[in-house]
Amino acid sequence: MEEDLYRNAREVAVEQFGHIIWLRALIEWSNVCRNDCFYCGIRRSNTRLPRYTLSREDILACCDSAWKLGLRTFVLQGGENPPAAQALAETVAEMRASWPEAAITLSLGELPQETYALLRRSGANRYLLRHESANPSHYARLHPAPMQLEHRLACLHELRALGFQTGMGMMVGSPFQTTDDLVADIRLIESFRPEMIGLGPFIPHPDTPLGNYPAGSAERTLRLYAILRLMLPGAWIPSTTALSTLRPDGRTAGILAGANVLMPNFTPARQRAAYALYEGKNGVAVENAAMLTQILEELDTIGYHV
Ligand code: 5AD
Repeated sequence: MEEDLYRNAREVAVEQFGHIIWLRALIEWSNVCRNDCFYCGIRRSNTRLPRYTLSREDILACCDSAWKLGLRTFVLQGGENPPAAQALAETVAEMRASWPEAAITLSLGELPQETYALLRRSGANRYLLRHESANPSHYARLHPAPMQLEHRLACLHELRALGFQTGMGMMVGSPFQTTDDLVADIRLIESFRPEMIGLGPFIPHPDTPLGNYPAGSAERTLRLYAILRLMLPGAWIPSTTALSTLRPDGRTAGILAGANVLMPNFTPARQRAAYALYEGKNGVAVENAAMLTQILEELDTIGYHV
C-alpha cells in the first residue's frame, strides 16, 4: 500500500524530470534571529548558542566552491534579521554579477516588502518561506504571540508578486499537529501552488520549550512527499537533511517517494555547528568534494544521477 503510493509518486517524478536529481548548495548565512519559535534551536532566547553571520568573503567563497563542483543554485538561509537581510542585498548583487547563470534562492524569513523588493532587484530569484502550519491555532502553539500565520501568507503573496519563485512547507509531526492539520497543510499547498515545497520531520532540540516532544515520523514524511508529488507533478521537493537525521537512508528514501532535490551543505565548517535548528543536525562536516562524491554514489545505487 505504502509502496504503491511511493511508486506512483516516483513514476510521476521520473516522467517530469527523468532519473535526475537537482543539487542546491545550502549556505547557512546567519543564525541571528529576532524570532522565538518554540521548536527552533536558533530562537532568540537560546543563549547557549554562539551567534555568527557569514561575511561577504565567506559567502562568495562558498559559492565559488559550489560552482566549481558543478552546482548551479545557491541557497542563502538564515535567521530572521531585517537590517542584516537588507545589507545582504549587496552580496546578492555580487553573486549575481559573478555567476549570471546561477539561481539564487533566499530563505530569510518575514521581511518588509521593500527588503524583498531590494533583494529581488539585486538578482535573487527564489524564496523559501515555510508556512509551518495552515491551522492558525496550531500555528499559535508553535510560535509566540507577535507571529501570525496571516502575515506569513501575506509575505508569500508579496514574494510571488515580486516575481520570486516561492516555496512553502511545514514540519511533519510538529508538537500538537493533528492529521487534520496536515490535511489543511496539503490543501493550502494545493491552492497556493508553490514552485518549491520544503518539508521535513520535526526533530526536538533540547534547548527549546518543545525539546521534550517526540520527533516526527520518517514514514509520514515520505507519505507527504508522495502525496505532494502526485498533487504538484512539477514541484521542486528536496529530500531534506532532517529526514536523513532520522534515518541513514533518508536521502534516497525521500527520492524514492517522489522528492527530486538535494541540498548539500556548503556552510564553512567552523560555523556549521552553530546552525543547530534541531538536535543531531550537522554532526560531521566532511569536505565538500567528498560529500558530493558520497551523494553521487548513493544516487547511483538507486539508478539516479545529478
Ligand atoms: N525540527 C525540524 N525542523 C525544524 N526547523 C526549525 N526547527 C526545527 C526542528 N526542531 C525548520 C523549520 C524552519 C526551518 C528553518 O527549519 O520548519 O522553517
